[in-house]
Amino acid sequence: MSTAPSIESPVATAPSGAASTDRDWWRDAVVYQIYPRSFADADGNGVGDLPGITDRLDALADLGVDAIWLSPFYRSPQADAGYDVADYRDVDPLFGTLTDFDALLARAHQLGLRVIVDLVPNHSSDRHRWFGEALAAAPGSPERDRYVFRDGRGPEGAEPPNNWQSVFGGPAWTRVVDPGGAPGQWYLHLFDAHQPDFNWDNAEVREEFDAVLRFWLDRGVDGFRVDVAHGLLKQAGLPDFVPDPELGTMGFAVPTAEGDPSGPGDEASGGDEAPGGDEAPGGTAAAERASHLGPMWDQDGIHEIYREWRRTLDKYSPPRIMVAEAWVQPLSRLSRYVRPDEMHQAFNFDFLEAPWDAPVLRAVISRSLAVNATVGATTTWVLSNHDVVRHPSRFGLDGGRWRGGIGVDDPQPDAALGLRRARAATLTMLALPGSAYLYQGEELGLPEHTTLPDSVRQDPTWERSGHTERGRDGCRVPLPWESGAPALGFSPTGRTWLPQPESFVALARDRQRDDPDSTLNLYRAALRLRRERSLGGGTLRWLDDYGPDVVAFGNGDVTVLANLGPAPVALPPGDVLISSTDLAARGALPPDTAVWIR
Ligand code: GLC
Repeated sequence: MSTAPSIESPVATAPSGAASTDRDWWRDAVVYQIYPRSFADADGNGVGDLPGITDRLDALADLGVDAIWLSPFYRSPQADAGYDVADYRDVDPLFGTLTDFDALLARAHQLGLRVIVDLVPNHSSDRHRWFGEALAAAPGSPERDRYVFRDGRGPEGAEPPNNWQSVFGGPAWTRVVDPGGAPGQWYLHLFDAHQPDFNWDNAEVREEFDAVLRFWLDRGVDGFRVDVAHGLLKQAGLPDFVPDPELGTMGFAVPTAEGDPSGPGDEASGGDEAPGGDEAPGGTAAAERASHLGPMWDQDGIHEIYREWRRTLDKYSPPRIMVAEAWVQPLSRLSRYVRPDEMHQAFNFDFLEAPWDAPVLRAVISRSLAVNATVGATTTWVLSNHDVVRHPSRFGLDGGRWRGGIGVDDPQPDAALGLRRARAATLTMLALPGSAYLYQGEELGLPEHTTLPDSVRQDPTWERSGHTERGRDGCRVPLPWESGAPALGFSPTGRTWLPQPESFVALARDRQRDDPDSTLNLYRAALRLRRERSLGGGTLRWLDDYGPDVVAFGNGDVTVLANLGPAPVALPPGDVLISSTDLAARGALPPDTAVWIR
């Protein structure tokens, strides 16, 4: 393991503010992501639904989270599990009705849980009314202008307009057939061909989304998770993309201790710029390379859209929020999404992508806090979601390959080691100042399903990549609630849209409820202590007495140590509030363990 970089001399990062009030509840909120297909199925068809969620909300109030985020439940042909929306103002019959949604919202609010819904503005479904109208209309028509249609290149326009690739594999363009039957223009889809990208230079598109925001705000939602928030605008002229072989599918690099140029010193992204003042921060060439991930991502003009949305949100009380899903690097570019007049939060994917390595983790945490402080935002920590391999499985691969999913013929994670590290990582995350997002099932320590038969895969990535990328089904498997019930309590009929692995039986919620050492009770206790000690609203002070393999910091009256090295480390005096594994030898912190001490 590398030695500690200079960044970890004890630095007190800028205060993230006192414990949040109702006005700024998001600053330290713990938000639980519900993936509706896989949470709980009330009607027994094997796919989760809104009534299923409502029935099980007590479990989340009991866990101690502040809010829930619902992945899409809108009308959709489900080409990308609901991220292909055909009607932004209705619930898909698969998940229930608008009345079911209202009941869910009312129950959540009764339990003190805020509700964030997913907004998918980059693209619609190809079954959206507007796309049908675009196909029926002529090139150059106002109907086509709501999407990104272009003539092809080469003889007869038979080549795509540029070389862009879909995130799911294959070309990002599909050619349409004109109403007369002749080959026509091409339309852009950064994701599946059933997900045509909107043209955000079109005023009607902007007006429509403002109306969609107000539709859900008027119903009483507390905020929006904004899908692909870095993708809405494309570089003028749609130039060819020059790919960087070092970067992943979304052009995202695994963070290192030294590599990110966004630390203190690259803070030109401060919050004082006048609206429209979106010049790139004066970073290095490396910063430029990393921040401009391609002509389809993170274009400067995007921020004006979020400023407009913010003005809409700010008309509502109590305050409503937006959280950006923006795969943007370096962190200084990401921080632009959370300037005071834009979004409230942006997922910290550098933290999610950090390997199990103390210097990298310290560096990412330091950089995140420092950069967000320049815009007055707290940091939004996250370790798992519906797009990535669950963190107990990632950390069980010891730096192995996980991007693109895991299949039966890939190296399999070490489940025990992975869970041990995942518990330590979560305990570290929950002690950090800021907000944190949890993904359903992580409180049970669920692993990825890494041996799903390829025949059941539904993620479009699997087909579009020509069966080279397994995709994301392995983290989307229906939850285990009761070990003895059909489908482990997920569905009364025992049906599940993806099969549950054998390992879920022992991890079912009912098996964990009364076990003091269970992952469920670790999460419950950590969330309670985090709240009691106001850690989310605290200030981090690095402690450098514990050697390079330990992530060590103080927050309020709590000392947090996470040992990522191979040898036990001596514990300081004090009361152990909580530890991620049993501290068998008193006075020592074993490898792959985190502890909070007072
Ligand atoms: C986001 C979602 C992902 C979806 C994609 C396209 O990355 O999290 O699940 O496939 O956008 O909407």
